Amino acid sequence: MRTIMVVCAGLSILLMSGCFTGGGVNVTDFDGIALYELKNDNGVVVKITNYGATVTSILAPDRKGNFADIALGYDRVEDYMNAVDKPYFGSIVGRYGNRIAKGKFTLNGETYTLATNNGSNHLHGGVIGFDKVVWSGSPISGDGFTGLELTYMAKDREEGYPGNLSMKVTYKLNNDNELVIDYYATTDKATPVNLTNHTYFNLAGEGNGTILGHKLMVNADRFTPVDETLIPTGELKPVKGTPFDFTSPKAIGHDIKQKNQQLKFGGGYDHNFVLNKGNGGMTLAATVYEPISGRFMEVLTEEPGIQFYCGNFLDGRLTGKAGKPYVHRGGFCLETQHYPDSPNQPNFPSCILKPGQVYKTKTIYRFSTK
Ligand code: GLA
Repeated sequence: MRTIMVVCAGLSILLMSGCFTGGGVNVTDFDGIALYELKNDNGVVVKITNYGATVTSILAPDRKGNFADIALGYDRVEDYMNAVDKPYFGSIVGRYGNRIAKGKFTLNGETYTLATNNGSNHLHGGVIGFDKVVWSGSPISGDGFTGLELTYMAKDREEGYPGNLSMKVTYKLNNDNELVIDYYATTDKATPVNLTNHTYFNLAGEGNGTILGHKLMVNADRFTPVDETLIPTGELKPVKGTPFDFTSPKAIGHDIKQKNQQLKFGGGYDHNFVLNKGNGGMTLAATVYEPISGRFMEVLTEEPGIQFYCGNFLDGRLTGKAGKPYVHRGGFCLETQHYPDSPNQPNFPSCILKPGQVYKTKTIYRFSTK
């Protein structure tokens, strides 16, 4: 197992093969932005850049042992910086992943105003969220894993949020083909925190058509319905009898064309599911199976919710690293999280981190075949 760091030169950061010359590694610098490659004993490779703590690529085998890159992304860092419609491919999003209504919340009697960068709402931490900052990266390794530790200190009032937030995110790839993400944070003032990873998967390979034939299971009997701006109404609604019932595996496209107000508001699925947590702790949140390749992914998390977003805003205008356009619904995200707009929803699990507390949460993406 190994972790390699590649820092690329020039105006353009080639996050893919362009970094490598003559089989060796070309190491130079570009504003401290680097590409790290994690490889396990099974040949699975995960590439991560410290720009936005972004997963740029995941090479995973199909049932015949053929590898494909199953994560959407770019091969140049400028594309991450300048992407139209901000898809947040592969990045860590925060300080508050997902939406905060009208970009406002009140905490300890003080009202905070955040950027409204998604219609009338605040999304994924604002204009320069954690997906658009340069984290400090250092390779780590241990018993059976190779990985990367990323740290970033968000300043008090950065993007309007209270408190200096000191963060650490680790990505670990182990020989069970698990990508394990651990999030840690501490603060010096009470603040909302909701960190998640925004990888878009296509288990048939990035750029290989839509994900509508993928079979999804979400371990959730309820979801949080939203208004037309995708802010939860506060209700925890049973999925039974609705297109949101993924309690048994079902093709993503099976019910997506149903006449349903929630699907209309989301332009498809773009909703938080209330995970069945049993006794809490680490539980299975979702599985996805792509029948042609046989690739199977499981998502486990300590978080109470998961946003299932099926790439409704992709429309073929963005071209991925292999030169293929990312078509409408050409990727899906399973973002483990606290429920959207929690700072304004007293009945949702609290997302407030206080001084002296440690924010600590784990999510695992496990890859196999069937
Ligand atoms: C999240 C949101 C979506 C969309 C994507 C990025 O998943 O819930 O509505 O904004 O990010 O395009």
